[in-house]
Amino acid sequence: NVEQKVDSVLSMMTLEEKVGQMIQYNGSWDLTGPASGGDNKQKEERLKKGLVGSMLNVLSVEAVEKAQRLNMENSRLKIPLMFGYDVIHGYKTIFPVPLGETASWDLEAMEESARIAALESVAEGVNWTFSPMIDISRDARWGRIMEGSGEDPYLTSKVAVAKVNGYQGNDLSDPKTIAATAKHFAGYGLAEGGKDYNAVNIGQNELHNVVLPPFQAAAEAGVATFMNAFNTIDNIPATGSESLQRETLKKDWNWNGFIVSDWGSITEMIPHGFARDKVHAAEIAVKAGSDMDMEGGAYEAGLEKLVEEGQVDEKLIDDAVRRILRVKFKMGLFDDPYRYSNSKLKNQVPYDEHRQKAREIARKSIVLLKNENDILPVANSVKKIAVIGPLADDKDTPIGNWRAQGEKNSAVSVLEGLKNAVGASTEITYAKGVTLGQGERSFLFPLDINETDRSGIPDAVEKASDAEMVIMVLGEDAFQSGEGRSQANIGLAGLQMELLKEVHKVNQNIALVLINGRPLEITWAAENLPAIVEAWQLGTESGNAIADVLLGKYNPSAKLPVSFPRAVGQEPLYYNHKNTGRPYSPEHVTFSHYTDIENGPLYPFGFGLSYTTFEYAKPELSASEFNANGSVTLRVAVTNTGDVAGKEIVQFYLRDMVASAARPVKELKGFELLEIKPGETKSAEFTIDRETLKFYTAEGKWETEEGEFELMVGPNSEDLQRINLKYSK
Ligand code: IFM
Repeated sequence: NVEQKVDSVLSMMTLEEKVGQMIQYNGSWDLTGPASGGDNKQKEERLKKGLVGSMLNVLSVEAVEKAQRLNMENSRLKIPLMFGYDVIHGYKTIFPVPLGETASWDLEAMEESARIAALESVAEGVNWTFSPMIDISRDARWGRIMEGSGEDPYLTSKVAVAKVNGYQGNDLSDPKTIAATAKHFAGYGLAEGGKDYNAVNIGQNELHNVVLPPFQAAAEAGVATFMNAFNTIDNIPATGSESLQRETLKKDWNWNGFIVSDWGSITEMIPHGFARDKVHAAEIAVKAGSDMDMEGGAYEAGLEKLVEEGQVDEKLIDDAVRRILRVKFKMGLFDDPYRYSNSKLKNQVPYDEHRQKAREIARKSIVLLKNENDILPVANSVKKIAVIGPLADDKDTPIGNWRAQGEKNSAVSVLEGLKNAVGASTEITYAKGVTLGQGERSFLFPLDINETDRSGIPDAVEKASDAEMVIMVLGEDAFQSGEGRSQANIGLAGLQMELLKEVHKVNQNIALVLINGRPLEITWAAENLPAIVEAWQLGTESGNAIADVLLGKYNPSAKLPVSFPRAVGQEPLYYNHKNTGRPYSPEHVTFSHYTDIENGPLYPFGFGLSYTTFEYAKPELSASEFNANGSVTLRVAVTNTGDVAGKEIVQFYLRDMVASAARPVKELKGFELLEIKPGETKSAEFTIDRETLKFYTAEGKWETEEGEFELMVGPNSEDLQRINLKYSK
């Protein structure tokens, strides 16, 4: 039925109108008033003629309605517009940055935060988000690592599905849902040197085994749109890659949504040295399968002419427009173009409930990295706590980058959270110590985080020496990570280390709370401090959630979705690396390692502590061999051997010992969250069948290969018990 409707609209369209659907404009002017300045007047004229397919960054019900009216009331065919926006970790109520939220490994929670973000978005007229970002990222230098789910294809695939389900629900026409976007297709997270927009140099096998699985999962979950990427892969811009877009996504995966370009990524094929000019860029992109041009002007400049001159077959235009119309029909926009600009919804949004959810999800995302002598949770006997650091009373940093309409300074700070939570008998003192950069902060504003002002250090030292315990809050500015925020150094910036060391001289009883968007190099802290809490940028309820964990109202359960390095020189760093011909061996020199640091990460993928302890029994496998028609079950019992209830994320990894292409030393293939009471034992169970063993083989097929496998189960990617398994076809 939708297909018939799409065809009937398409059959009425002129070439100019079809090309119009393939153009996206930024809402760069106040749409509630008259258009002025730049080329805005021209843009408004095109809107009136129905020559625009969608807009981004139009940010109020009034503006959305005005733009839709300009289009609907003046255009010939009255094809409704879509309105997109980067709703990355919440719209107004801000949730943890995606890397942090993934640390919860709690798929239901991640689906829930997307559902909430969708509701808050539609209440403001936005009906399409450019999320989830599911780029595998292995390099902490890359600023956008905060926006994804880390280094693992399996975990990221699960998150991708949860997010798509959360945003889109099971009916895209439900006005409380929004269309989602799987981005950036593909490879963007593996930019060489961790430098944003840089070239990606990986082969087909690695691309298919590591980068593409989350995208395929999103496609299968029915994600409405994809966004392509700024980067080249093996020297072909992703935006101009026919093999990625037409072959893999649209043909092999049989996906029928549409691909929007990244901002100007079609035109950026000119500086890539791949297109001569805008018209040439348009030709390459449309042939490759990019359906909509985000604010790049290439389709506007070239597509009609290319078709008229016979350079581009109109069938390609029809395919793109069919895809765009299909999504619009599924969203119910043809039934009611104003369904998402209905201000009544605005009063129905339960913001207070959303804050509560934000607090729950934030505390689930906090990773306890170190807790020597159980200094956390803070004991009741501790009566004087010094809260120190540039981020301790910072209400803005936890909102993070890509904050949508999360207001400036709207987060609960750690200091506020602690003051809200401690009883009257506990005294809290505060010193900022040093500042982390000065001045204006925003998405596009370059950030200077270097500091020379040491004048606050003596006060911090005095407060620390006066207190029984120090809670030190350090990390990154909100705009240190995110797009265009790659860094060559990933330590604690500015004077933070100096402050930490000065405080440490007078009081060693320090719990370090980190607020950051990327893995940081914290080797000194790990060697010298008794406790470290990774609290990411947790959003609106940050300080309350952190206080819940520090004071033991919530037992931390999160585990790292990304490896933490000992030194920046280890990056890119990831647990699922190859064995190499010379795997690490401590007795030798001519083996794969760095000679100046200990091998391996500081904290591995999947690592995180709890206030209780868990003991793993010996895992059991139902059979030591199986074939293509069968399956085996791996079972492990876990006992809570401590005094408080806790949640353990049991992880299952696998290694294919010999294959047609070298396989990783281990790959995550399953996980289970077990809530276990003190003294109680629960089991996690994993089924292994031929699907579990499939990979992209040297022949370029997703297949199984016979042979020996090693199964591993445990609390993180390093602390594992192993069992062998044989598979035959
Ligand atoms: O969605 C983003 C993308 O991730 C980076 N470039 C701009 C887009 C729209 O804001």
